[in-house]
Amino acid sequence: MNAIIVTKDVELRKAVAQCCASHQPIIHVVSEFPGMNPNVGVIATVQPSLVFFDAQGDEKEILPLLKNTAAKYPQAAIFLLASVQSSTLLLAAMRNGVREVIELPLSASNVHEAIDRTISQHHESFWKQGKILSFISCKGGSGTTFIADNLAYALASASNKKVLLIDLNLQFGDAALFLSDAQPSMTLADLCRQIHRLDAALLDSSLIQVAPGFGILPASAEPDPYDTIRPEQIDAILHVARQEYDFIFIDLGRQIDGVVIRALDQSDHIFPIIQQSLPYLRNGLRLLNFFKILGYRKEKIHVIVNRHEASTISVEAIQRSLGQPVAYMVPNNFDVVSESINQGVPLLKLARSSNVSKALVDIITAFSDVRKPDNPGIIRRLFVRNQSA
Ligand SMILES: Nc1ncnc2c1ncn2[C@@H]1O[C@H](COP(=O)(O)OP(=O)(O)OP(=O)(O)O)[C@@H](O)[C@H]1O
Ligand SMILES: [Mg+2]
Repeated sequence: MNAIIVTKDVELRKAVAQCCASHQPIIHVVSEFPGMNPNVGVIATVQPSLVFFDAQGDEKEILPLLKNTAAKYPQAAIFLLASVQSSTLLLAAMRNGVREVIELPLSASNVHEAIDRTISQHHESFWKQGKILSFISCKGGSGTTFIADNLAYALASASNKKVLLIDLNLQFGDAALFLSDAQPSMTLADLCRQIHRLDAALLDSSLIQVAPGFGILPASAEPDPYDTIRPEQIDAILHVARQEYDFIFIDLGRQIDGVVIRALDQSDHIFPIIQQSLPYLRNGLRLLNFFKILGYRKEKIHVIVNRHEASTISVEAIQRSLGQPVAYMVPNNFDVVSESINQGVPLLKLARSSNVSKALVDIITAFSDVRKPDNPGIIRRLFVRNQSA
């Protein structure tokens, strides 16, 4: 859940941000407006769930700004922070749909209670926070697209979760082709061009539907997509996506740039894909060091060894040289994997009892509430549904 804070008062801003950080569920402060000007920067494309609006000061300045803010963030719950509650101010608050007036000086418990009240009154989907799972190659050809695609498909097929896959491999993205032969009507670049009118309906209509509840936003087909696709637009798309989808899978490809870093920052889990050879290990180590510099916790990172075979560099040796546990292994099975990719059909549809399909199902059970022991139906649902496909 995201919030913005509109205030000139540095101390008040800090205090509100602290309340947000300590709230359960945590409230992410996505932007602050020290100049009291909500018309600046990236936030213009992001719809926050909460707006903390400082109503101290000259009402002639404050009231038009409140009106402007309310119009700009129509889906947000506005919390007015006020020391003096004049009748003009309260009337303006009512007119602009202010949800709560929080008295100043600020009391943390008042803020927490106001947030809790708002959460309990709102429709569930308003507060939905989908999880972002990003997949990144330690080196080209590691199997990132194959794994991200097929995990997303497996999760959508085994559950009633809404799943989105975004292809952020901007120049060489092929995620849609691995699962579907449908021609995209829109790409990520097209969506970025229309970012000013981005909402759930536009995002939904931009997708290639691969299965019920599972769509892919294809990469751009343009030679220089960096002209069109910018980091702040990725923020905006992910913000809308989190509210609409339970899981957002991202194929990041193999290069690191501003757009990829923005997606990594927003990710709940990052899956570097590695294979058992020295060039992969060397690049894997570089990637993990880079994550350290970016300040990511080790628990956010889940290394997957793809094309795993017992006869080569051991998993223990990989863990030692990476200084990070290997979370999952996907076995090597060139025949079934290449058949799935060449036909553009999900592996779980094509070869549901293969060792690779089983490994993929194991991984998704760890990242959804569809757990194998509690829900013996997960594998049956996947396989029965696929039999009729
Ligand atoms: N578990 C596996 N067993 C056997 N072959 C595999 C497996 N996973 C992937 N492959 C093979 O590796 C090739 C590369 O896979 P994929 O395109 O998913 O990699 P990538 O990391 O996305 O590559 P790129 O860096 O080009 O984006 C595929 O053509 C496929 O044949
Ligand atoms: Mg790829």
